Amino acid sequence: MDLGIAGRRALVCGASRGLGFACAAALADEGVAVTLLARHRDTLAAAAERIGAGGVVPQIVAADIATETGRKSVLEACPEPDIVVTNAGGPPGMDFRALTKEDWTAAIEANFLSAVELIRLTVDGMTQRGFGRIVNVTSLTVRSPVPQLDLSNATRLALTGYVAGVARQVAPHHVTINNLLPGTIATERIRDLGDTATKLIAKVPMGRAGRPEEFGVACAFLCSTRAAYITGQNILVDGGLCSFTV
Ligand SMILES: NC(=O)c1ccc[n+]([C@@H]2O[C@H](COP(=O)([O-])OP(=O)(O)OC[C@H]3O[C@@H](n4cnc5c(N)ncnc54)[C@H](OP(=O)(O)O)[C@@H]3O)[C@@H](O)[C@H]2O)c1
Repeated sequence: MDLGIAGRRALVCGASRGLGFACAAALADEGVAVTLLARHRDTLAAAAERIGAGGVVPQIVAADIATETGRKSVLEACPEPDIVVTNAGGPPGMDFRALTKEDWTAAIEANFLSAVELIRLTVDGMTQRGFGRIVNVTSLTVRSPVPQLDLSNATRLALTGYVAGVARQVAPHHVTINNLLPGTIATERIRDLGDTATKLIAKVPMGRAGRPEEFGVACAFLCSTRAAYITGQNILVDGGLCSFTV
């Protein structure tokens, strides 16, 4: 299937590894010119080289998407993206009683405001040009809150509510905004969760963790012209882990 996005420009956040990298690689495979963003330049450059081995080496921007300066620098490098994938590292798992105001502020900046601001700064250009795709990498915690991941449970739901409203306001202009919800996909983040991840994977109906590239192709499809009638949705890529009853 031709996804119809060759030649489009994409900005992919959190793209030096894991899910962000997989989304960027899948978009690059479709002939999209990708700009990769993450905080550490070395790993980012290595990621760009890996993607570039199959064609054009992507542009990279080393910046923190949770900051205004970081967002400014990436939009200077990629001022008119047709496709934006918002993504950042997940907040730490902690007992909710131990969470401080600083922990909440950091999670809100990284997992809520970074996406809200990137949407605000790019969506009008997309509507004016008559095409746009925004995919926010959120979490299965939106459908099924996970104990100890209270920062994630709360900030992802805030973004879900925001997107539910905004996606419908820009829908007439050929711009779609969707959230893609990973669950137990084998990335470094999952390995860092240790026991929590092992317990979750044991419950996955498919009996295995997902592969990042399985998530990446789902993202590329949502960014395609073929997915023009899908907006404001929260789509799980979790091997069937979340059921309707949770
Ligand atoms: N894997 C799963 O199954 C799963 C399940 C539920 C939710 N999620 C969520 O999905 C997101 C991606 O997960 P992942 O497994 O791919 O994580 P990961 O392996 O930790 O990768 C995170 C990526 O984001 C970058 N990053 C982190 N903070 C950033 C920031 N402030 N600004 C710019 N780049 C930043 C990292 O590079 P630098 O460190 O160099 O910045 C890295 O490239 C996370 O929010 C995670 O909580 C994942």
